Amino acid sequence: MESQKNVHLQSHSQSAKTDDFLSTMGFSEAKIKVSEKAETLKIEVSFFEWASLIAQGHAAFQFLWNGIQFNIFEMLEKNGSMSIEEIQKESALEDGPVKMLMTSLTCLQFVNLDENEKYQNTSLTKKYFVRSSSANLIDVLGWQRYIVYPGVEDAEASLRANKNLGLEKFPGTSPHLYQRIAPDDHLRPVFQKAMSSLSSSSHQVLLESIDLQGCHHLVDAGGGQGTNVIALGQRFPNVEQLTVFDQPDICKMAAKNILDKGLQSRIQTHPGDLFDTDFPKTMDSVLLSHMLTIWSEQNNIKLLKKAYEALPSGGKLFIFNMAVDDDQRGPFSSALGSLYFQCVATGEGRLYTQKEFVHMIEAAGFQMVKTEKLPQAHYLWTAVKV
Ligand SMILES: C[S@@+](CC[C@H](N)C(=O)[O-])C[C@H]1O[C@@H](n2cnc3c(N)ncnc32)[C@H](O)[C@@H]1O
Repeated sequence: MESQKNVHLQSHSQSAKTDDFLSTMGFSEAKIKVSEKAETLKIEVSFFEWASLIAQGHAAFQFLWNGIQFNIFEMLEKNGSMSIEEIQKESALEDGPVKMLMTSLTCLQFVNLDENEKYQNTSLTKKYFVRSSSANLIDVLGWQRYIVYPGVEDAEASLRANKNLGLEKFPGTSPHLYQRIAPDDHLRPVFQKAMSSLSSSSHQVLLESIDLQGCHHLVDAGGGQGTNVIALGQRFPNVEQLTVFDQPDICKMAAKNILDKGLQSRIQTHPGDLFDTDFPKTMDSVLLSHMLTIWSEQNNIKLLKKAYEALPSGGKLFIFNMAVDDDQRGPFSSALGSLYFQCVATGEGRLYTQKEFVHMIEAAGFQMVKTEKLPQAHYLWTAVKV
């Protein structure tokens, strides 16, 4: 009987969904077999365990986050293997907290406990939760901790009112999160570092897929602190000019990063509001990376039309984003990501399906050139102004 209640997620696409979901939750449960080479999970759990995983996702997140806050993964990285007493001494946590933290991190498979009662990092923890690893997702967790969790606490009210009522948690008067946190010296870097980390972990596929042939001046609209544009500038030396178009406080961060890389002769910033400020005059191609989930379809089309008007004939549009599959069965990372846009960011955006992206691009007047499905739930849509 028990096996009938089990949740089987065995096929390739389904296990990929589980992987996305679990990574969203920051959760990996004892019966989950981790194939560390492929970084996929095969899961067979009872429905009760599956429901527990969802119901206590907040606890799983807090244990993972506090593994980072109390330097557990860093100290295991430094020492290789540690007993509970050694961890307790180094973390300065008391008996109860250190034991529950280590038990939970072991159960969640972020650390191993060996037959000598010593803890070690798993290879995935080394990759994703140790600061010295270039693939680490620590800053993404910081965004969840300081912005997403507080903002979605009363999701019911935001869904009922069709507004981002979670924004009340952040001081200011702007109806959008981005403008509220721009002057905040704690939350601005929390947010920008998370976006930068997300982009760094996904933009390799963008660099491999984007066709910048014939592009002389690419504008990264909502380019944040310049992570994508710097990588594009380095990868494509033939593109003469690249520009980050973002809010003034964010452009200052981008300008510093561009200067640090010595790319200021080719990469500039263009401070302003995407909806109100003109695009740079010489722009012949525009990238919107992780942008069209922020606004409603109507406002996305408005922004795309503005880009269309500003581009010369033959000008290219690139949209790089996560999307929901057209059958709406996943991936989890995209489907679940919508709540943040509804409750916190703007109260109007969501993760659209692949088809919806194409609809918005065409509704703005562009002609589709190519849709590419990329890893990590991403797509790259290329369109042209004819
Ligand atoms: C989700 S982040 C995306 C950052 C970057 N494109 C990436 O892929 O990592 C959204 C960016 O859009 C900017 N932004 C949001 N609304 C804006 C507006 N109305 N005008 C200019 N920039 C805006 C934010 O400041 C932020 O840097």
